[in-house]
Amino acid sequence: MNKVDVYYFSGTGNSLVLAKLVAERLGGDLIPIASVIDREKIEPAADVTGIVFPVYYADTPNIVRRFAEKLETTEGKYIFAISNYGGGAGDSLKTLDGILRSRGEALSAGFGVHMPQNAFHKPWEMKSLAYRQATKRIDFIVRAVEARRTGLFYSNVLVQTMMSPFQGWIRRMTALYLEKASNTPAPSGLSVEQLMPLCGASFAADEKCTGCGICVRVCPVHNIEIVDKKPVWQNRCENCLACFNWCPTNAIHGALANTGYRYHHPDVTVRDIGGQSDIPA
Ligand SMILES: Cc1cc2nc3c(=O)[nH]c(=O)nc-3n(C[C@H](O)[C@H](O)[C@H](O)COP(=O)(O)O)c2cc1C
Ligand code: SF4
Ligand code: SF4
Repeated sequence: MNKVDVYYFSGTGNSLVLAKLVAERLGGDLIPIASVIDREKIEPAADVTGIVFPVYYADTPNIVRRFAEKLETTEGKYIFAISNYGGGAGDSLKTLDGILRSRGEALSAGFGVHMPQNAFHKPWEMKSLAYRQATKRIDFIVRAVEARRTGLFYSNVLVQTMMSPFQGWIRRMTALYLEKASNTPAPSGLSVEQLMPLCGASFAADEKCTGCGICVRVCPVHNIEIVDKKPVWQNRCENCLACFNWCPTNAIHGALANTGYRYHHPDVTVRDIGGQSDIPA
């Protein structure tokens, strides 16, 4: 029987739930990307490798890019990815495939899954419907992986095709937005990926902060330290919004998340998200 490893990255639990479902159904092991990212090389001892992650700014999160740059599998092994999003996959699956190809590997199959938006409020969004549809989508993905299907399978091909010509414009607008969010003097010429880590600078905790340290626990890349009982953000932020969304007193504010909207998947706990960065024995 083929061994399956499912790697995931998640800020608010959507990717974790999808990764768990797919790992259970394929009889695979679930491995947080944050727990292995500091290794020099990542060598899955599996015949099938899955990568589950959220879309950030119409593309692939930085930590998932770094993961793909370190991934060493043997030629001919099946690699699939599940990109999930509140709107569309953007270039996330193509970017991941490009990184793997630059290293002599390739994405065998990429799947898009629609999930609730975690970064801003969409009044028309029906979360329970999105969860049900995502579970059905996992049925399709499991069958496709078992059949070793190849190609990119978006959840909404029409949205994907319509948005594709605007990708360059979206990324330019995102860079302008992140320059502001990170207090970087414009025009900086920095890419979205270079600006993202600097955005932790935009976060601060107000007087509602109790110093409980939950933000420190849920940050998958240890970007927050408690100084004088208050969190202080460093400069390696992944923009995952875990700290913002899991703070029990809603004390965190910042240019990245300045709305009153907060979200995390109802079946995922602080412990689940915090456990991501635990180094495996
Ligand atoms: C910084 C950031 C950027 C995002 N950018 C996009 C985007 O460009 N397109 C989109 O459809 N969803 C976007 N989202 C929404 C997430 O991809 C989506 O809610 C995902 O399911 C969250 O997964 P998680 O709960 O595992 O963190 C963004 C979320 C964050 C935090
Ligand atoms: S999670 Fe919220 S209340 Fe707890 S230390 Fe962080 S900012 Fe303060
Ligand atoms: S500082 Fe907050 S937004 Fe940045 S990586 Fe850590 S938890 Fe995510």
